[in-house]
Amino acid sequence: MNKHIKWLLTQYKSQKYFVLIMVIFTLASSAVQIAYPYAFKRMIDLLNDVWANPELYPTPMVEVNRIIMLFLAIGAAQFLTGFYPCFRAWVNLRFEHSLRIFYFDHITRKDYRFFQKFRTGDIVTRLTDDLSEFPKISWFMGSGIFRAFNSFSLIMFSLIVMFSINAKLTLLSIMPLPLMMVVFYFTSEKLYTNFERNQRAISNINNQLEMSFSGIRIVKSFVSEAKYNRFFDEALDRRFKTEMSVVKLNAILSLIYQYIDYFAQIGVIMFGGYMAVKGEITVGTFFLFYTYLSMMIYPLLDLPQLFVSGKQAFVNIDRLDEMKDHPSFNPETQVGHEVQRFEGLSFEKVNLSYPEKGIHVLRDIDFDLLPNEKMLILGSTGCGKTSVVNLILGIVKPDSGKITFSGIDLEKINIKSLRDIVAYVPQEPSLFSGTIKENIMLANTDASEEEYQKAIRVAQLTDEIELFPQKDETHVGQRGLSLSGGQKQRITIARALIKRPQLLILDDITASLDAENEEKLWLDIEKEYPNTGAIVISHRLSTLRYVDTVLYIDDYGHAHKGTHDELVMTNRDYHDFLHEHLKK
Ligand code: CTP
Ligand code: MG
Repeated sequence: MNKHIKWLLTQYKSQKYFVLIMVIFTLASSAVQIAYPYAFKRMIDLLNDVWANPELYPTPMVEVNRIIMLFLAIGAAQFLTGFYPCFRAWVNLRFEHSLRIFYFDHITRKDYRFFQKFRTGDIVTRLTDDLSEFPKISWFMGSGIFRAFNSFSLIMFSLIVMFSINAKLTLLSIMPLPLMMVVFYFTSEKLYTNFERNQRAISNINNQLEMSFSGIRIVKSFVSEAKYNRFFDEALDRRFKTEMSVVKLNAILSLIYQYIDYFAQIGVIMFGGYMAVKGEITVGTFFLFYTYLSMMIYPLLDLPQLFVSGKQAFVNIDRLDEMKDHPSFNPETQVGHEVQRFEGLSFEKVNLSYPEKGIHVLRDIDFDLLPNEKMLILGSTGCGKTSVVNLILGIVKPDSGKITFSGIDLEKINIKSLRDIVAYVPQEPSLFSGTIKENIMLANTDASEEEYQKAIRVAQLTDEIELFPQKDETHVGQRGLSLSGGQKQRITIARALIKRPQLLILDDITASLDAENEEKLWLDIEKEYPNTGAIVISHRLSTLRYVDTVLYIDDYGHAHKGTHDELVMTNRDYHDFLHEHLKK
């Protein structure tokens, strides 16, 4: 079966009761629409007959009243089916909601390679524009398909009634149908490719926007506003062109359809009128055919639209599935061994490369870390310090070698349980929209006020928070734009501490704490969070005072571990590296 159809069926299954109500509603609404002209035809024929053969109708008013009752019944049914479009819109929303949650969930479990490939703006477009805008997925699944089903049942019902009244006239009236199919076949392919191009242009613009605003400070500091404006102009220009071609094609299509409609009506008037004059059909039948046909034309033209909007929706489905199915070598599974305690860590002959850039970063790394040990990672910029941390967190996977955490192979560990006992302060801290307090509590929503105060105190934030306009209820922008880099990082340190981690990883805190505050941080950690293991990356040599051991990564990607004194004595490169740094 076609994969899109399969996809749709799975979605419908998940909402089967709503879908069932929709089916019933749709059939009822078509039946009501069909019944109205039919009651009219009965009325016309009756009046005609009463006028022509009065002797057959001794009590004509009884017959008339019966038809009036029929009209009243149709009116009542029409009132009920009036809620149908409203319900349909509601079903659209349900689909939109459930799909967005489904794909969002998948995306949050992707690894960094995913986010290298899909820019934020692109992901946002796929989750919003692709899902909810007019001819896109959620509209298609509810309104699109059911409007088509509505059209289809309306056509079928009309045809049944028409055939049962006069087969010859019916056949003559539906002749334009094959013509429309041919027209559709030739235009649809083109529309499909244009549509896809258009969608790409929209994504592109959102990316461009996201990039320029999130990097607005960089743009401004390099005085490159003009360059960005030009980029943006170009992107807008592309979008304008693709959008125009979609509009043009749509205009041509609707023009063609209009003419088909026109010819079909003329046909009925000619053939039907002729047959009515010859007495082959009644005036009521002529009226019925004319009304049904004009009622049918629009749905008939609308049906091919289903294929058009279907194709559009299928592009959107593919775009969503492309994200969902993008291989993530770290599936972030919830399965595997749960770890409760941090009982040390070891690397055995670990190699890591980034094939995209063709660099081999870490070579045959071997080291052990004891549970309560504090270890400093040193090495020149780009030597792979952050990569070591990412390996431990399971964010990247080694090419070869073995990493064990609490004695369990990292491959077999439930990564979530590992991340529960490890807290990580990234090199580039990021905050979420919300207050400072919310940002810190994020890591441990059950933390008591006391724990919270302790965390901000140890992170050396207490004095600073006092200076903020609304203290810790101060909102930080989407990316904490209103805070300094150092403030942001200290907030993420507090966020890490409030977890009461068994292993604390700090990736380059040099920028956020001066030497004096760093000393306070370490003394406070020792006092308030005793027996916490730590891995620290720092460019400040004074950090050496607060750690037990050093892991030095040389410029060839080899790692050397020992106490500072041991390394100075035994490793020439380490000696030179320190010497270089001390000079600065
Ligand atoms: N790298 C990469 N792709 C990534 C991450 C890193 O190609 N997704 C590369 C970097 O360009 C760098 C090397 O891998 O050349 C090591 O990166 P990293 O571990 O981040 O280096 P650090 O030692 O942490 O560098 P810094 O001191 O600047 O933080
Ligand atoms: Mg780094």
